[in-house]
Amino acid sequence: MTPISEVIRRRCSCRSYADRPLEEDALHHFTRAVHAPQRGPFGHTPRFSLLSITSLSRDDWKKLGTYGVIKNARLYMAGMIRPAPMAACDFGFCMEKLILEATKLGLGTCWLGGTFSIGAFANAAGLCKEEQLPAVTPVGYPADRRSLTERTMRRFAGSNRRKPWPELFFQDNLFMPLLSDEAGPYAEALENVRLAPSASNKQPWRVVYDKKLQIFSFYISRAFGYRQLREISLQDIDMGIAMCHFDLTVNEMGLKGSWLREDAPATIKPLEYMASWQAGD
Ligand SMILES: Cc1cc2nc3c(=O)[nH]c(=O)nc-3n(C[C@H](O)[C@H](O)[C@H](O)COP(=O)(O)O)c2cc1C
Repeated sequence: MTPISEVIRRRCSCRSYADRPLEEDALHHFTRAVHAPQRGPFGHTPRFSLLSITSLSRDDWKKLGTYGVIKNARLYMAGMIRPAPMAACDFGFCMEKLILEATKLGLGTCWLGGTFSIGAFANAAGLCKEEQLPAVTPVGYPADRRSLTERTMRRFAGSNRRKPWPELFFQDNLFMPLLSDEAGPYAEALENVRLAPSASNKQPWRVVYDKKLQIFSFYISRAFGYRQLREISLQDIDMGIAMCHFDLTVNEMGLKGSWLREDAPATIKPLEYMASWQAGD
């Protein structure tokens, strides 16, 4: 089994695909994962649907627009959820798990929260009235070369860069950066948070470690004026993705703990509290 840290390092947004279908084995494994019931740490249950070039009419397939961003995809996964508090976070958590499953199978993916035609995807995926469709991803084998659009987008978003530890992780308050050595066995889980993908690569997660209580509190640094996508905010999805990386890593390492949302968490302005992970059985 490939260690989760290696899978997380291997994943990167792929926007140019080889013009060939998934091998049968990979398709079988991925389909099974996508259709399994999903539940995030806060109890919300997003659902996912696969849209394939062979299962849609030519016309319907052509309508699945990505504004020229994605080249040659033959398969998409669309994610749907009923809006509610913490639902976006659960959505990001569950969808990232599937994205990493695809990565394990050698498949390329790319979170799309903005550059896709929602109406066409909603029709094809059978979106219900009370649901939202916040994101989709193409799934397929990466092409040998990235398209010019893709190279430009990566440069524009600074996709290869991640913020350093002192900007993201803290001890007790926001004035004391947490060093990797001081995070003990949790250093790898935090490093995997740092490497997570985020909309426009904004990396909005901040984590404060209370060593005495063994609690990691996750805060969001909201980008000013960042577009709210209908009722679902892309940055809440980013938080779910980061929590997924943390969760998969501590689980693999056998570090026990659980997610909770404190009723009256300490506000650390200008950050907004999202959730905490507390060590223990
Ligand atoms: C919630 C979310 C929404 C995103 N939306 C888009 C999008 O609409 N179009 C796009 O090309 N990339 C999109 N991305 C991909 C990010 O730009 C990418 O993850 C980031 O630049 C880091 O690059 P990497 O994924 O290669 O590590 C999105 C990523 C996330 C997590």
